[in-house]
Amino acid sequence: MTYQDILNEAKEDIDRLDAELILGFIEKKTREKIFSNLNFSLNNEKVNTFRKLVKKRKTGFPLAYITGNKEFWKSEFIVNDVVLIPRPETELIIEEVLKEDLINKTILELGTGSGNISISIMKERPEVKIYATDKSINALLVAKKNSELNKTNKIIFLNHDWKKQWLFPSVDIIISNPPYVDKAEVDEEEDGVWFEPEEALFSDKSGFSDIEIILQKSFGFLKKNGKLLIEHAPFQSEKVADISMAIGYKEIKQKRDLNKDIRLSILEK
Ligand SMILES: C[S@@+](CC[C@H](N)C(=O)[O-])C[C@H]1O[C@@H](n2cnc3c(N)ncnc32)[C@H](O)[C@@H]1O
Repeated sequence: MTYQDILNEAKEDIDRLDAELILGFIEKKTREKIFSNLNFSLNNEKVNTFRKLVKKRKTGFPLAYITGNKEFWKSEFIVNDVVLIPRPETELIIEEVLKEDLINKTILELGTGSGNISISIMKERPEVKIYATDKSINALLVAKKNSELNKTNKIIFLNHDWKKQWLFPSVDIIISNPPYVDKAEVDEEEDGVWFEPEEALFSDKSGFSDIEIILQKSFGFLKKNGKLLIEHAPFQSEKVADISMAIGYKEIKQKRDLNKDIRLSILEK
């Protein structure tokens, strides 16, 4: 079968773009190369592999877990089903952190997952000191691998659960994209999320449980004038502001993502 034949066949089951990316993954070629070689033949073994992966994708299994990587900010990251697939809206944290004076500053990341945020920051500002933490050892192993591939070996990865005791010195900046999805609100048919780690996505108390802990505990670990940058769902923005004010943060700024939804709160101690 030619590339063209197999892509036409897959059209019945999955998006054309996904089919092209799966074929590119099997053939180790870019999409552009696939396009310019539509008459190339695929051997039977590869046809079978392609069909198997199309079937998998049809069940909702995320494309990034099939190809094993995801682009975020300016780099490629290894991903598998122990880490959340980086989302474009999370790039807002990086945009905002890069506006800060980072000279001689220490950043603590809570819930690093694949390491995508800390690694992207370190690549832009190699002078900064970063502690990247997660409660999942498996996620930390992926993050460490990504850090090695991206040559950001200065990042210190630590196994830490924000629900337990915090044993850090005070830091200048804390960043986090915590789990904030209310499981009860997620559509059964929602593409992909059911294959991602539950502890990376869902949080109790209508999605607020982890946010509340982080807002509260970060206050005690930020230096004076230090900042917490925390991602949340748009509908959570008002409550995040209210809780932060009650805790004592002196300034609260909220930022919109590319869809114009409030997605990030920046809280100054
Ligand atoms: C939404 S994911 C964020 C992953 C990555 N930073 C990103 O933005 O793509 C949340 C991460 O927090 C971690 N996590 C969840 N609960 C935690 C806890 N109690 N303590 C530490 N990490 C936790 C999960 O393992 C997951 O990697």
